[in-house]
Order: sequence, then C-alpha cells, then structure tokens
Amino acid sequence: MNTAKSSVTLIGLGPMGQAMVHTLLAAGYPVTVWNRTASRAEPLVAAGARLASSPTEAVASSDLVILSLTDYQAMYDILSTAESALGGRTIVNLSSDSPGATREAAAWADGHGAHFIAGGVMTPARTVGTESAYVFYSGPESVFEANAPVLRHIGEPRFLGADVGLAQLYYLAHMDVFLTTLASVVHATALVTASGVDAAEFAPEAIRMVLETGQMLAAKAETSMHLGENLDAGHHPGEQATAAMMGATADHIVSATKASGVDLALPEAVKSLYDRTIAAGHGKDSWTAMYEIMKRRP
Ligand SMILES: NC(=O)c1ccc[n+]([C@@H]2O[C@H](COP(=O)([O-])OP(=O)(O)OC[C@H]3O[C@@H](n4cnc5c(N)ncnc54)[C@H](OP(=O)(O)O)[C@@H]3O)[C@@H](O)[C@H]2O)c1
Repeated sequence: MNTAKSSVTLIGLGPMGQAMVHTLLAAGYPVTVWNRTASRAEPLVAAGARLASSPTEAVASSDLVILSLTDYQAMYDILSTAESALGGRTIVNLSSDSPGATREAAAWADGHGAHFIAGGVMTPARTVGTESAYVFYSGPESVFEANAPVLRHIGEPRFLGADVGLAQLYYLAHMDVFLTTLASVVHATALVTASGVDAAEFAPEAIRMVLETGQMLAAKAETSMHLGENLDAGHHPGEQATAAMMGATADHIVSATKASGVDLALPEAVKSLYDRTIAAGHGKDSWTAMYEIMKRRP
C-alpha cells in the first residue's frame, strides 16, 4: 500500500510559517517553501524542506498551497507572479486581514481557477501543532474537508461555513477581546506606577483581574442567564450592578487618570460608552445594555 503523503507548499516564513513547516515535516509531509527573504528558509531546508526558486515553482510543486503572510496584499505581491501555476491548486490563506479583503481574494483566486480557503490561526507560533492550537476556517466545505487531514496538524480545525470571510471575522473578534484586554492591563499598571508603585508589584494584580473577569463572565448566576443569551434577548437585568454605577466608576477612572498624567484614550473611550448607554435610558439596566449602543441598529 502506498502511504506516501502528498506534498504541501508553504509560502511565508515568518515565525508562524516556520512553525507550520516544522510541524508538517514532523508529520511526514514533503514540504516546499518559498519566502521573499530566502535566508529565512535555511533552517527549514536543514530540517528537510525544499526551497523553491520562485513563487511559480513553489505553487506548481503541490496541490495544497498554504500562505502565512503579514496581510493579503503580500498574497497578491507573490501570487500575481505565479498566475500560470494557480489553476486547480487549493490556496489556504492563513494571513490576517479584513473579511472584505478575504472575500475579494477568494474571488481573485476563483478567477485564476484556484480553490480558496481562509483561516485565522488562534495560537502563538510557539504552540502551533500542540493540543491547545486551533484554527478557524471558512470557504467551500468540500475543499476544506479534502484538506482537513493536513490542516489538522497545524491545530484543531474549526470550520465556520461557506462565507469565506467568517474565519477572518472570528479571528478579528477574538483579537478585539485580546488586544483590548492587553491594553487595559498595561493602562491599569501605568495608572498605579504613576504613584510610585513598581510595575512588578502591580502587574500580577491586573492579570488576576483578567482571570476573575473571565470567571465572572462565564458564571451564569452573575448575568441571570448566559451573557450571549441575554444579549440576543435584549435582556439586561440590573439587579446586581447597574450601568449608572459602572458609568460612575468609569468617570472616576478618567479623573484618576487625568490626575496621574497617564494616557487617557482608553478610559475615555470606556466612559463614552457608559455615558451613551445611560443617556439612552439604560442607567438602571446592567452594563450589558452597552450592547444596545454598540450593535448595528436597523
Ligand atoms: N506570530 C504569531 O504568533 C501569530 C499568531 C496568530 C496569527 N498570526 C498571523 O499569522 C500571519 C503570519 O505571522 P508571522 O508572525 O509569521 O508574520 P510576519 O513576521 O509578519 O511574517 C510574515 C511573512 O510575510 C512575508 N511578507 C510580508 N509582506 C510581504 C510582501 N509584500 N511580499 C512578500 N512577502 C511578504 C514576510 O516575508 P519576509 O521574510 O521577506 O519579510 C514573512 O515571510 C500573520 O497574518 C499573523 O497575523 C501570527
């Protein structure tokens, strides 16, 4: 029985692409690589990958072509020099960009006779291929299914549907939570260190607050129902804590930040959300009523 695995091409050898190549090589796949800066391929060639001399050669080497690039413009910069090789290939673009750019890229690939799947990698490069890694995918289901056995090695695949922009949307929404949380931890630490406390002393407190916040959000008792169900239902019970009370606290954070000389952008943005929630008549509702201000209204 022939158990030889089909070759995979990986274009883009930043930290993420490099981690993917090592993982695919370890799983026994022949891997062809290409990168704008060729020297980044050296450790991978030493580990068993084959370096293509051009994007065209890289694309022509495998039916499955995985991209790990800074953004989608990089895809055009590279693949527009390899258009003759695109017909019949499956492009799995694991680069970050907007859902709109992803849909345009899928149409572009289709125009060149290639299948297109988009992905959002939900793990740092160092944990690619480990049990904690997962990746959102969207695009034609049959194309995804055909390539899932290979993609599974990168991280657990979570297929979201045929709308090719969905993986990017989910990825960005997760990064929205992530980046805002990181900024809040740094801001809170700056606020305290302005009074002479060392960051080393306070930062662990801020990190613990992130964990406690997650536990609070996950606890159904705190929000009467699960948070998502409350938001869907437009149900914002304020028995435990009201938007007016939280808004007053947001105001106090702005005052303390002003007094400390620390950057105001983040607390002012939060205060603005509470101000508008209260002004819309939700002062006695829960903080979750902020959703009514933020969401797209008909
Ligand atoms: N790193 C992570 O932990 C992580 C985690 C989750 C998701 N991601 C996502 O995964 C993707 C790759 O991440 P990364 O950290 O490896 O990114 P990176 O360090 O930005 O490397 C990206 C690759 O894109 C190439 N590139 C950028 N612009 C190009 C252009 N105009 N033409 C040709 N090549 C171009 C770079 O080539 P050169 O080597 O020649 O510069 C490099 O190979 C990103 O979209 C990122 O958002 C990364």
